[in-house]
Amino acid sequence: MKIIHSVSELIIFRNSLDPAVKVALVPTMGALHSGHLALLTEAKEKADFVIISIFVNPLQFGQNEDLNKYPRTLEADLELCKSVNVDLVFIPNPEEIYPESQENITKIIPREKVANYLCGKTRPNHFSGVLTIVLKLFNLSLPHLAYFGEKDFQQLTLIRLMVKDLNLNIQIMPISIIRSDSGLALSSRNKYLNSDELIKASQIYSTLIKTAQNIKKGMQINNALEFARGSLTKEGFTIDYLEARSENDLEIINNTNLINLPFRLFIAVYFGANKTRLIDNLKVI
Ligand code: PAJ
Repeated sequence: MKIIHSVSELIIFRNSLDPAVKVALVPTMGALHSGHLALLTEAKEKADFVIISIFVNPLQFGQNEDLNKYPRTLEADLELCKSVNVDLVFIPNPEEIYPESQENITKIIPREKVANYLCGKTRPNHFSGVLTIVLKLFNLSLPHLAYFGEKDFQQLTLIRLMVKDLNLNIQIMPISIIRSDSGLALSSRNKYLNSDELIKASQIYSTLIKTAQNIKKGMQINNALEFARGSLTKEGFTIDYLEARSENDLEIINNTNLINLPFRLFIAVYFGANKTRLIDNLKVI
């Protein structure tokens, strides 16, 4: 397994690969878990050469967010990569990626209609930071395929739209959400929860399931959402959002525009002593 830290070395190495080699990229911020593993395993199945990037991207963190305390577990990450025969691990430091400045550089503006809701509302520059690093990683590793999880469905949607809008010649491969046995969506941020909180946090998923059932049984969407917000709040969750939105462009869904569009429930909460931000989503139809 090759490990590369520098941008220049990655460019040289990528150019040395035979053009017939099918390359897949799996961008991550490390603290790898079984969710990331699912992306890597799928990538290994479909591609000849799998590159994972491990980079905690400062550009996508807000001022009061957890950039400094974001979990960093490089040794374990490398073991996990080896276990699934990843071909190349790219681990740059911030100076390598943003040599001049983090503020005064060219950035991607995501599609506003999709970026300004859900996570974009409380994290205003987050998706610009995500798209900027993802495009840089695409340009450096020139993948044929790039893998992203449905856990971050808004991120996945905005990346798909960037690929379409900017005519990038890359196939975006979505991967279903991997959960713990209790139903909690796996996330590097689950490390901020203590053991009691980890058990309780599974109520996010069980509430999504119950809400989807209520809607399918004919309950008004807004009433079902309000009911769910109430019960989670009572259990100690602080709701950032709980909404129903269409899968393709994340349009809000309610009973007036519900015309058999595939749609999902989207949730973000703050939970536990560390006020950990947890997100999840669930397909309704
Ligand atoms: P990170 O949170 O490390 O996630 C890397 C990839 O793993 C993302 O595509 C994410 O959706 C996927 N993933 C995380 N948890 C998952 C789960 N439980 N099931 C399925 N997939 C899961 O997302 C980022 O990093 C960054 O924003 C990044 C795209 C790397 C840009 O910096």
